[in-house]
Amino acid sequence: MNKILRTENLEKVYRVGKIDIHAVQGVNLGIEKGEFVSIVGPSGCGKSTLLHLMGGMAKPTTGRVFIEGIDISTISDVKRAKIRREKIGFVFQRFNLFSALSSQQNLEIAMQICRNGNVDHQRIKEIMALVGLENKLHHKPLELSMGEQQRVAIARALVNDPLLILADEPTGNLDSENSYRVLYLLKDLNRNLGQTIVLITHNQEASKIADRKIKMKDGMVISPS
Ligand SMILES: Nc1ncnc2c1ncn2[C@@H]1O[C@H](COP(=O)(O)OP(=O)(O)O)[C@@H](O)[C@H]1O
Ligand SMILES: [Mg+2]
Repeated sequence: MNKILRTENLEKVYRVGKIDIHAVQGVNLGIEKGEFVSIVGPSGCGKSTLLHLMGGMAKPTTGRVFIEGIDISTISDVKRAKIRREKIGFVFQRFNLFSALSSQQNLEIAMQICRNGNVDHQRIKEIMALVGLENKLHHKPLELSMGEQQRVAIARALVNDPLLILADEPTGNLDSENSYRVLYLLKDLNRNLGQTIVLITHNQEASKIADRKIKMKDGMVISPS
């Protein structure tokens, strides 16, 4: 069994007033080590909810999520947070960088969280070079283009050598040139480093960068998982 992540009958229901919203329904999927998978579907179909469940940011209503065989849906919040920090690198549409801190400091913070406060400056430089921003270590987010900010966010996702990168609409705030660059950066990380990546997008064109596509509609997977 090569699956580093697996979901089993995953369900998430949000209750808004008296209405139940079935955001994710009966999702069974598996991600293998070294894969580049996209999850694609229209806005509101449950992609972000699924990503939150897969990454241990939210708990399913029913069903399970296994990361390296551990059922993260039943363990304590503290244990789940530890697995999330150590195993998953998140990339978001809005970058979520600390605006008062430089690129280097944003990476340092992510690294400190997993290494008891220790920082490997050499590794940070290497990773910034990997995303093509070795000369932007001391720039703060607002001193960078949107595309560069997303590449810093990808660098940050890499600092703890994650088992898996979960990217939620990483090109959603970017023009086509920067989108292309970010998608090809993800492709390179997958091909050259064997980094396992799940790319979530509503954009059919962007989803083609992945080697395997999972289609979602109305909370359900509608093509093979
Ligand atoms: N925190 C929440 N509370 C209530 N409903 C939510 C919440 N988050 C998402 N939803 C609803 O769940 C459905 C799926 O949303 P989402 O996972 O964000 O889809 P996508 O990422 O594909 O756009 C939508 O109907 C959305 O309105
Ligand atoms: Mg979303």
